[in-house]
Amino acid sequence: MAASIVVFGSLNMDLMVRVTRAPRAGETMRGLGFLTNPGGKGANQAVACARQGASVAMVGCVGEDDFGEALRHALAADGVDVANVRSVEGSTGVAVVMVDAEGENRITLVPGANESVKADGETLAGEFLLLQCEVPMSEVVLAAGIMHARGAIVVLNPAPVCQLPDELWSLVDIIVMNEIEAAELTGLPVSDPANAAIAASSVRQRGPSTAIVTLGGQGVVLADEDGCRHFPAMDVQVVDTTAAGDTFIGAMCAARAAGRSMDAAVMRGIQAATICVTRPGAQASIPYLHEMAGP
Ligand code: RIB
Repeated sequence: MAASIVVFGSLNMDLMVRVTRAPRAGETMRGLGFLTNPGGKGANQAVACARQGASVAMVGCVGEDDFGEALRHALAADGVDVANVRSVEGSTGVAVVMVDAEGENRITLVPGANESVKADGETLAGEFLLLQCEVPMSEVVLAAGIMHARGAIVVLNPAPVCQLPDELWSLVDIIVMNEIEAAELTGLPVSDPANAAIAASSVRQRGPSTAIVTLGGQGVVLADEDGCRHFPAMDVQVVDTTAAGDTFIGAMCAARAAGRSMDAAVMRGIQAATICVTRPGAQASIPYLHEMAGP
């Protein structure tokens, strides 16, 4: 049976350093802690879907090295189908993640094997396709085209942000952006729910029927055919925001795949991301279904 959600994207090993603040040029600073943890926006979203009980397959590439093996095992341990995670020559993707005292992260990504990911009709199947921008954009467009033609719901997280090819916009059903991505894609200021709603509405005019802007502590704005709604965030002590957006997307898609309404799915996403930010790491911080409140 095909997985209901297929994630086409990146797998990275995250090398996370906790710091009081980012060092200045030429400065050496003592870090407060170090964690090696499976990450990558694609793999994180796959894990977030799987931990909410969805049936998920991952399409991606790792290198022929220890990090690649560890990433594949981590996904499989979460029940993600890794039959289409290929091993290629060279290094697995690595992300150097610096997390400051406020829990904010700064990420430097070396894509490695992620550059070798290819879209083809054989490996892509499901009701939902989740895309990000850590694999070649030409392949992201191809994957979206294949799955759009098959009637799947195509979900795009335009991260790391870049200008999107014109042909991609009309293939996307749901776009999920943070404030930086929404501002970059629209050229509009995005700093609060009011201006995020304007940006989300403007993005909808380019193709996606649903546009979502995540605003961290200010919650989430959803724009769809029923209008714009703001969903407040929950107040928690933030430890590390890494993978919060990925967790939101995975939990939201898992809820949609389980038949929940868009509003209910957004609330599930917020609840999962709220738990995620209270814990360190990427995949290490993504919650399981049994940790969620409510049915
Ligand atoms: O979204 C968080 C992820 O971005 C990290 O896990 C890191 O690997 C980068 O891809």
